[in-house]
Amino acid sequence: MTLERKPLLEWFDRNRQRTREILTLVDKSAWYERPIPLRNPIVFYEGHIPAFSVNTLVKGALRRPGVDEHLEVLFARGIDPETVSAADQSQAALWPDPDQVQNYVRSADQLVRDCLASSEIEDANDPMRIRALSAFTILEHEAMHQETLLYMLHRLPHDAKHRPGPAALNPEGKRRDRGIPTIPAGTATLGARPEDIAFGWDNEFQQHQVEVQEFELDAFNVTNDDFLRFVESGGYAQRRWWSDQGWEWITTNGIEYPSFWRSEGGRWLWRGMFDWIPLHESWPVFVSHFEAQAYARWKGRRLMTEAEFHRAAYGSPSDGERSHPWGEDPASFQHGNFGFQHFDPCPVGSYPEGRSAWGVYDLVGNGWEWTSTVFAPFDGFEPMACYPQYSADFFDGKHYVLKGASQATALPLIRRSLRNWFRPNYPYVYATFRCAG
Ligand code: AVJ
Ligand code: FE
Repeated sequence: MTLERKPLLEWFDRNRQRTREILTLVDKSAWYERPIPLRNPIVFYEGHIPAFSVNTLVKGALRRPGVDEHLEVLFARGIDPETVSAADQSQAALWPDPDQVQNYVRSADQLVRDCLASSEIEDANDPMRIRALSAFTILEHEAMHQETLLYMLHRLPHDAKHRPGPAALNPEGKRRDRGIPTIPAGTATLGARPEDIAFGWDNEFQQHQVEVQEFELDAFNVTNDDFLRFVESGGYAQRRWWSDQGWEWITTNGIEYPSFWRSEGGRWLWRGMFDWIPLHESWPVFVSHFEAQAYARWKGRRLMTEAEFHRAAYGSPSDGERSHPWGEDPASFQHGNFGFQHFDPCPVGSYPEGRSAWGVYDLVGNGWEWTSTVFAPFDGFEPMACYPQYSADFFDGKHYVLKGASQATALPLIRRSLRNWFRPNYPYVYATFRCAG
């Protein structure tokens, strides 16, 4: 089979263009800021995306020289430290000035593009190039970091950002009936077979089936209004709703409400990308795993498992398992809030065409879904040759699986087997939840 380079080149160009657009939202004064104390400054991501591509595709897979050895080490990897003091230590590295970074990015882009256009990026006998593995890896890696950048920019003070156009604020919605469909017992297929998808990260293999018992699942995500009741009932002051670690986290950090919220003069405000806005009651609440778990316990319920997510999203009473909650059509803007249509979430249930066979809304889009499943390898896991640490570094029992997508998840990442993961105290990501029981 001959490799189709054109779609890869188009994706590369679209990626670079989008990353530039995202970076132009930030005022240059904030370039060396760490909006999230646990992660590197914005300038790191500007350099990391191209440096990762050079390291992985050019030097790793093609065994050709890179652009700048020093910068390719400096920009090689992000960080995921447990505490801020661990993150501070990595600041010993001095980040290069903007001109140096921009020059590097220009040269690296040129080199990577040339390789995608005319090097031997596919070779069935090379584990790094089988089915163009390294090429897909760098393309999906960039798309993922566009989401990283957006949720990171979300934390910057609003005056450090430039609004791209007239305010396109998502509306408030109507209150909805709180359906709680029963999902009948059945088989869920997790993971994928390599021959069925053009590319998957190592943690998506092997495909296997899990028997899921009957369970109940909220048709809609928990909204800001739902969660406000928990906050106002004193939920953050009551030990009994929290896990040991969750309690430790909120008490040592003085956390009393979600990190996307702020209270001012008796009014609740929501941290939008470009403004503080009144808390929209119909939007999904964005919270950490610890907070999601506490809310569910307060309700006498629980979070769904990863396998239950699959059953709820992809199972169907009639046509076996689907590729997407809505069926076989490729993901499009009719199906959910993903693919950078919006900077912020929409009211829950805004995408009826994207609901699953059981009438569950927004499983893919409008916020990643926290599950109760600890991130771990599937049976038969093998670290990917071109990026062996990608998942393996995080099989430490300290990360939880998230499924679905947020408003800032690129369309090519929308696939059944994709798994995301974060620490339970990570409140920055666009992640929501719903209750199961
Ligand atoms: C899979 C989104 C958790 O951003 O930490 C990017 C993806 N890994 N570069 C992250 C990733 C290395 C990763 N997540
Ligand atoms: Fe990365």
